[in-house]
Amino acid sequence: MAEICVLPSRTAYSTPGEVGARIVGGQGHYLLGADGTRYLDASCGSGSLIFGHGDEKIIDALHAQSRKLTLFPSRHFSCEIVERYARQLLDFGPPNMSRAITFSSGSDAVEASLKLALQHHFAAARPQRRKILGRNPSYHGNTLAGLGVGGFVARRRPYEPVLATCAKASHAHCVACEFGLQAQSCALECARSIEDAIIEEGPENVAAVIVEPIVGAALSAAPPDPRYLPRVLEICRNHDILLIADEVMTGFARTGRPFASMHWSVEPDIVICGKAISAGYYPLSALLVGERVVHGPLARDKYFQNGQTFSCSPAGAAVGLAVLDRLADGRIAANATRMGELLRVSLRKELPSELIKRVRGMGLMVGFDISTSEFANRQALSPGRYSDRLQRAALRRGLVIYPSSGSARGEAGDHAMLLLPLTVSEREVQEATASLVAAANDLLETETKSRP
Ligand SMILES: Cc1ncc(COP(=O)(O)O)c(C=O)c1O
Repeated sequence: MAEICVLPSRTAYSTPGEVGARIVGGQGHYLLGADGTRYLDASCGSGSLIFGHGDEKIIDALHAQSRKLTLFPSRHFSCEIVERYARQLLDFGPPNMSRAITFSSGSDAVEASLKLALQHHFAAARPQRRKILGRNPSYHGNTLAGLGVGGFVARRRPYEPVLATCAKASHAHCVACEFGLQAQSCALECARSIEDAIIEEGPENVAAVIVEPIVGAALSAAPPDPRYLPRVLEICRNHDILLIADEVMTGFARTGRPFASMHWSVEPDIVICGKAISAGYYPLSALLVGERVVHGPLARDKYFQNGQTFSCSPAGAAVGLAVLDRLADGRIAANATRMGELLRVSLRKELPSELIKRVRGMGLMVGFDISTSEFANRQALSPGRYSDRLQRAALRRGLVIYPSSGSARGEAGDHAMLLLPLTVSEREVQEATASLVAAANDLLETETKSRP
């Protein structure tokens, strides 16, 4: 076999062909293997492919715009489709959003959001406000700045010495509360940990707080107490700090609303969009920027000091418009709510509770923990061991899941998500459940056999 020339990385070729498959195509909600296997795709391009593979309308929109114009020097010219898209993105987002700009990846957009927050305070003659507060665990993309504000130990490790030191507050994962409290009857100690961190850093030094409204890869779909995000916004307002909502994974109806912040009527200062913004058909991301930033001190600066080659791409705008068009009547979001609930209910009922714990999530962002303590001395286990094994077992059963680890404050704590397309049917939800149950039972059986 010819040597594989792709550099193995976290998201590419780190375990190619482990179950022998080469992917030759995608069809609807399935990936097609060269050996004829059909895999129900519940990883969905890491949560991007909300309409599945081969969506004709989006492909046609991209083709049509590509024939007309793909890029233009947006510094010197304007372009109707780019402006129309910005308008529609704002209409789709939380009510206070007043400007939008597009980039190419979630990581670019995270990076841009941090720079925008710093420029906001710089323009207000508060240059000392340069600290960004994050949470542990969390994931905000793979650039050095994104890793710095993020709290994903394994992904940070090789770069630790050069990462910015950003204070980290507690997560707000109610089913594994760090303070040992019960959701909705606590005093929101997790939100208080944000205020404590702000006070520790000195509010006059803090530019922004960045949060994933529902933590994705780092905790596998952990919705907070409904009072949490409104309280975090209030804390930020009290200290004149910007709130950045990283909705790269939660945006575009994944959780049943356009953006997860909208479940709790929270209007962040900056919303970061990625992944499903293009349904996976174009490398596209965006920032939605709230009135406080647009009409605040930055208004005196001529512009945001940030630019990238693929910013304001007309091709990206065409794809983005086609996605918004599909989401406009709310039926897909409603399907995400209904199918997500159905999936959680059937997973809770059918998955072996010796292995799978705490099924959770919102809409079609569904996660669970893979608890290994029954099998062996946890200390001896390498992190990710069980989530990767479950992934392999699921592949053998024709299902692709999104495995991860690190929920237990570091690298330990295995978990996984199912991120099905939002257009998934009841039959496919049943199929995902049956395949995952079979995979979990396969794993359980192998582990039980190999027990000393
Ligand atoms: C919450 C969040 N932010 C940022 C990113 C980075 O996006 P990308 O991989 O497109 O750079 C991701 C990707 O998984 C994410 O889940």
